[in-house]
Amino acid sequence: MSKGVMAVVLAAGKGKRMKSRLPKVMHRVCGKPMLGYVLDAARGAGIDEIMVVISPEGELIRETFGHEVRYVYQRERLGTGHAVLQTVNDIPPEVDTILVLSGDTPLLTSQLLQELLATHRREGAAATLVTTELPDPTGYGRVVRDQGGRVLRIVEEVDASPEERAIKEINAGAYAFQRQPLFAALEELTPANAQGEYYLTDVLTSFQQQGLVVAALLTDRETVLGVNNRVQLAEVEQLVRRQILEEVMLAGVTIIDPASTFIEAGVEIGRDTVIYPFTIIGGNSKIGEGCSIGPASRLTSVWTGPGVKVEFSVLTDCRLEAGVVVGPYAYLRPGAHLGEGAKAGTFVEIKKSQIGKNSKVPHLSYVGDTFIAADVNIGAGTITCNYDGWEKHVTHIEEGAFIGSNTNLVAPVRIGKRAVTGAGSTITKDVPDYALALERSEQKNIPDWMKKKLRERGLGEED
Ligand code: UD1
Ligand code: CA
Repeated sequence: MSKGVMAVVLAAGKGKRMKSRLPKVMHRVCGKPMLGYVLDAARGAGIDEIMVVISPEGELIRETFGHEVRYVYQRERLGTGHAVLQTVNDIPPEVDTILVLSGDTPLLTSQLLQELLATHRREGAAATLVTTELPDPTGYGRVVRDQGGRVLRIVEEVDASPEERAIKEINAGAYAFQRQPLFAALEELTPANAQGEYYLTDVLTSFQQQGLVVAALLTDRETVLGVNNRVQLAEVEQLVRRQILEEVMLAGVTIIDPASTFIEAGVEIGRDTVIYPFTIIGGNSKIGEGCSIGPASRLTSVWTGPGVKVEFSVLTDCRLEAGVVVGPYAYLRPGAHLGEGAKAGTFVEIKKSQIGKNSKVPHLSYVGDTFIAADVNIGAGTITCNYDGWEKHVTHIEEGAFIGSNTNLVAPVRIGKRAVTGAGSTITKDVPDYALALERSEQKNIPDWMKKKLRERGLGEED
């Protein structure tokens, strides 16, 4: 743990350039809000005390991150300096070092924050900032240094002279500050710049004038990219996606084609699982060992045991025990729970239902609000009629039952143990254990019907 250190994460900006109703830091990168990455980086660096500055429109941030961190409101968006100043009365007395981070730099790493703190201490600095060199520095504040290489100030692009704009070294927006001089300088800020904002970066000018040490940590560009618009959001997504895929592969998972595979942050995948192309795995998914997932499948918050196979299918909020087979072309909706060795085959939709051990739903079926025990076979084209237009009703199918093809099971209904339904039946009454339920008119054969037809049309006789 980093004693006496606190992180202030700025997240109150409107994110105008995103053109969005969503607070900027809530935009997701590989399924996780940008702010989540910054908080994780801070915590990973041993900083447990975190304060997030949000605007009154940022309630979603609070709802999402809850009690993980503390919140301070910036009621008017008057700039990054003004945002930090809002925390002045809420910082615990034992804090002497404040890291200021932006919620829109999701590539920050814990290692970088540790280096930032180490540099800050080693240099005895009042402020240490992270900088990087970008071939195209457009949009960032430029780092102005004197001939001796000392940081003089940061100039925002809109306030910069043409010579300053040519500077490739930019301010990454992550800083370590000594508490006391920081707040003293923030109180003195004025919004005398092109945007009429209170710039946090102007604190550095004030430190220089006071003869305080301003240090800088030059790092590589990938960790500090900021997201101000959706083009940058997509660039960051690419980088994080690649990182996640690499981690997953190095942990023992085969990804046949990383270029067409998408795995969101936080997903866990067991060893020796193979992921085939065009597959997206997200939410809180946890995939077991030795599974085969894809091609062309989307799994969102799916838990699986080992040895599961999923092909060309869409699965959301469901649970598959060991050895389950899904697809091709199955749709498993929330609350589908398939027991060990169970199967959901081609053109099968299952919702809020339990499929018992070794039970099969191989073709063309809809199963909703249903409890299926073990060793049940559901014939092709079986439909559980669970909805009467007002309410949903439950179907129970007991162990070893055999549902004939094209059966309609009108819920609420119970099919007994080892009971059988005849193909094409519409079952509206419970079927006792071991019974056969037939609900269809008996077949009638009319002999030589066609011969008569042919004769009537003068098409001759046939034997
Ligand atoms: C800022 C820096 C710039 C740096 C860049 C790095 C200033 C003046 N400029 O510019 O030097 O190169 O970050 O990414 O600091 N925010 C608030 N309240 C506000 C304004 C902003 O909380 O009133 C938050 C935003 O939500 C965002 C962060 O502060 O998370 C940075 O604000 P943004 O407007 O993105 O600043 P940049 O123009 O990127
Ligand atoms: Ca920014």
